[in-house]
Amino acid sequence: MTMNIWLMEGLSSQRDIIQGISAAAEASQQPISVFASHRHQRNEILSQADFALIEPAEDERRLAFIISTVEQHGIRAIHTGRNARWFESRRAEIETSGASLTTGATRVEMLDLADDKVSFAESMAQHGLPVVPSMRIDSTSQLRQLLLDSPFGDAPLCVKPVTGIYGMGFWRFDESASPMAAFTHPDSRRVHPHFYLQALDAADRVEPLVLMPWLPGPEYSIDLLVEKGSVLAAVARRKDGALQHLENSGEAYELGRACAEAMEADGLVNVQTRHDASGKPLLLEINMRPSGGIGYTRFSGVNLPGLFAMRRLGLMTAQQVRDRAIRDFSPATVRSITDVVRYQPLTNLIP
Ligand SMILES: Nc1ncnc2c1ncn2[C@@H]1O[C@H](COP(=O)(O)OP(=O)(O)OP(=O)(O)O)[C@@H](O)[C@H]1O
Ligand SMILES: [Mg+2]
Repeated sequence: MTMNIWLMEGLSSQRDIIQGISAAAEASQQPISVFASHRHQRNEILSQADFALIEPAEDERRLAFIISTVEQHGIRAIHTGRNARWFESRRAEIETSGASLTTGATRVEMLDLADDKVSFAESMAQHGLPVVPSMRIDSTSQLRQLLLDSPFGDAPLCVKPVTGIYGMGFWRFDESASPMAAFTHPDSRRVHPHFYLQALDAADRVEPLVLMPWLPGPEYSIDLLVEKGSVLAAVARRKDGALQHLENSGEAYELGRACAEAMEADGLVNVQTRHDASGKPLLLEINMRPSGGIGYTRFSGVNLPGLFAMRRLGLMTAQQVRDRAIRDFSPATVRSITDVVRYQPLTNLIP
């Protein structure tokens, strides 16, 4: 039985995931080898694995590359943090290689649902889960009218693209913001509605937007290890300015778990919530992939990537993972910093 796990190109935390798995492999004293691949020469990521590969740039060549790599190196489990839709729609072909596949989801429909923030909100409401009220906006005139109507009582309003990532395009409407505020202080994300509408009017086309009440917070980011819709382990990060507090209980934590289960997630995923004015957490979104901050959760003692690998390689039962996640946890506060590493040629590259 081979103990080889392969982390294919991820979005923002592939390096931390490889490090978490390597640490768990070492602690387990099992002969686990970590393979990592990326389309680009990302030596700072690939150097962290036992073996590194460069992925083909073209989608069309990826399937053959996967099949031959699994065969040549006896890969038992594949994880992807990017191109999830491509992988999920080829699950059967990929898994005939003998390796298991983790995409974050169990079916393509759920990836699509997670990518559309309005449909996601509707679906979560149908599941009886509290979610930020979300209206789809398709035109400037519609937004102009809704800003006059105040559809969410006296809450301030905000918008973001229906499909978006990295918080791009999120703006809070503020009648007291100066005309230049969005340019001089872009990070405060406040804009006078007049100037937002003016820019939207001038744009060639309107990307669909979500209009929501602005929630005061605090905000939570919950990282979860899920297996076919059943949560095995989770760590919540409560955001408090530059600090993040690691927790494993509470309303937001429970809401994150319920959301991942309703979305039938599978793998390492991330749910975000924010408290409304009455102090109740509401769902903002789920990302059906590891978050950028998943590595921070190791400071709680719970190694989510490590548990993922041990489970996927058949070295732990689901119940053992659940028990470990509870036993290992202790609260911690973390602060992220920008770091720098030496960039060197790879010594582990498989040509
Ligand atoms: N209704 C809201 N009230 C207050 N803040 C919000 C609201 N919606 C979004 N935000 C803020 O904007 C950020 C980005 O929103 P969201 O996570 O939904 O978008 P995203 O572009 O998918 O971000 P990412 O993928 O980086 O997590 C949130 O983390 C939150 O701080
Ligand atoms: Mg987000």
